[in-house]
Amino acid sequence: MELSSRIQNLKPEGAYRVMGLAQELEKQGRDIVHLEIGQPDFSTFPPISEEGKKAIDAGFTRYNPSEGYADLREAIVRFSKTRGIDASPSQVVVGPGAKPVLLLPLLALLEKGDEVLYPDPGFPSYRADIEIAGGKPVPVPLVEAKSFSFDLEALESRITAKTKLLILNSPANPTGGVIAKSDLEKIAALSLRHGFWVLSDEIYARLVYSGFQAESIYTVDGMESRTIIVDGFSKSYAMTGWRLGYAIMPETLAAKVSLLLTHAVGCTAGFTQRAGIVALEQCDSDVSKIVVQYEQRRDVFVEGLNRIKGFDCRLPEGAFYAFPNVSQLGIPSSLLAERLLNEAGVACLSGTDFGPNGEGYLRFSYAASRAQLLEAVDRIDTFVSKL
Ligand SMILES: Cc1ncc(COP(=O)(O)O)c(C=O)c1O
Repeated sequence: MELSSRIQNLKPEGAYRVMGLAQELEKQGRDIVHLEIGQPDFSTFPPISEEGKKAIDAGFTRYNPSEGYADLREAIVRFSKTRGIDASPSQVVVGPGAKPVLLLPLLALLEKGDEVLYPDPGFPSYRADIEIAGGKPVPVPLVEAKSFSFDLEALESRITAKTKLLILNSPANPTGGVIAKSDLEKIAALSLRHGFWVLSDEIYARLVYSGFQAESIYTVDGMESRTIIVDGFSKSYAMTGWRLGYAIMPETLAAKVSLLLTHAVGCTAGFTQRAGIVALEQCDSDVSKIVVQYEQRRDVFVEGLNRIKGFDCRLPEGAFYAFPNVSQLGIPSSLLAERLLNEAGVACLSGTDFGPNGEGYLRFSYAASRAQLLEAVDRIDTFVSKL
């Protein structure tokens, strides 16, 4: 079959692949600790679910504006102001999850061969989406010693006349790193000097831990006309299956992305959007409570990992991922992840599921119970001590 070159390199996402393998083992009677998928283990907060059910009964089950309901977009604008982001509703595009509003701006902006800088290791959809949109992916390594931010000189050395866009993700999947404000300012200066766009994936912006703050590059002077913020409800409000996300971008681009949404998906489910308004307006304290719990789990898990021979794990600053350096064990990361699943019953991802620069690392999601995290540490420790 002759398929287009833009999809030739598409690969399954590691998290879904490993979850499938783990479920196969469970069918054979094995007990597996699931730390592979980036999904809160909490249920959606009750006021959100209640509103969703009410909205179905009230008839929010029909087509609605492609860009999303006006009152949801207004609620997004009000919420964004609390993060210092000053935007108008006409700059907001709502979509079924963050994923579509990550891809569609790339389709709207990239010409064939335009270069896009993106973090390696990074969320796998970045590279896939750049290729789908006809761009040329240019990975920029993240540096562990810099809290997994970019080495700014390495970033600058990759900028060419063809650089169209840079993808940022802070707090980051898979590293848990947060980009410092001073680095954002330097990155903004590069964007303004060289004239490239910044797509800033801020889906974990509310999940930051004591002492850290995830600022948006949008707030740096001059950047509002060059930045696309991607955000969503999946992680902060435990709404992964509801499919609700949004992006903020200059108005002219927003109008085009809405047209792409019209033709690609039509619109986002109305009852999901009604539930989203309640999430933004009534669930602030639920999110804060959950962040406290994630922080406690992070501390327990990272401390446990650091007691295991050959594991060296920085304290993640945000999101809910631990990304230990396991290079001292001398086993390729993908083989180690496979053996941990098959021999120790712990499902995690290889750092290389996030790009070649993830070699020497594993990714664990600690959005799991304390008991599961402690069990995982025990199992990994027993496995490693037999190597
Ligand atoms: C960094 C990052 N961006 C975007 C997404 C996609 O989120 P959504 O479920 O809203 O499509 C994820 C999900 O894992 C993610 O980790």
